[in-house]
Amino acid sequence: PVAASASAPHMVITAGPTREALDPVRYLSNHSSGKMGYALAAEAAAQGARVTLISGPVNLPTPQGVERLNVETAVQMHEASLKLAPQAALFIGCAAVADYRAESAAEHKLKKTDDRDTLTLTLVKNPDIIADVAALPKGQRPFVVGFAAETQNIERYAQDKLARKGLDMIVANDVSQQGLGFGSDDNAALLLWRTPTHNEQLVAPPQPKTQLAALIIQHALKQLSLISSG
Ligand code: PMT
Repeated sequence: PVAASASAPHMVITAGPTREALDPVRYLSNHSSGKMGYALAAEAAAQGARVTLISGPVNLPTPQGVERLNVETAVQMHEASLKLAPQAALFIGCAAVADYRAESAAEHKLKKTDDRDTLTLTLVKNPDIIADVAALPKGQRPFVVGFAAETQNIERYAQDKLARKGLDMIVANDVSQQGLGFGSDDNAALLLWRTPTHNEQLVAPPQPKTQLAALIIQHALKQLSLISSG
């Protein structure tokens, strides 16, 4: 990999799942392995960027030349992202952030009771990390790339997320397809972005996540340079 110089662009990338405690031994989470986000971080570092990877709990080695910050919950990922994003040129939210957490995690292990067959949990909304990064004021706001994990109406839902969260670009993946998306080595995506006059898109067919990562980084850097050069 190329060593990052002091003038290299700083990229902040989130990866992996978040874990939301229910009690000291149980949590809510999802099947994100971190592979897609780690591939993005490895590719960005190989291209000479200074990369900070904000990672949920995964079983992957830190890519060479990447600075890694471990977090567990969405609230911790939110705090780390909002601390680092204002100094970054590019922010990529690849993490599968839990949308909800337990209103209060039990201090002691929840006990199974004999008198009731159901258990009701009250969940509260987690902060939307990428929407808050995208809402940073001009001068502190990086170029913001989000992901959209969808199982139907991919393009429509992704366009909606792009606009609603105020993102510059979104990478939509169909996570219902066998062998792609969560946990696998391969992925396919629809890249959507906005220009001042219209919406554009690019279809990336199934390919190794390492290869797709190169395409996403290349594309984001191109859009970023178009914006910076006016
Ligand atoms: O980790 P892998 O096993 O390699 O799998 C890769 C992946 C399928 C997890 C990845 O490609 C992917 O799709 N990541 C986004 C998963 C997701 O949570 O998507 P979403 O559509 O729910 O969220 C949309 C965007 O908002 C994402 O950029 C997400 O990081 C962000 N978000 C969501 C909720 C929240 N509270 N804060 C956020 O920032």
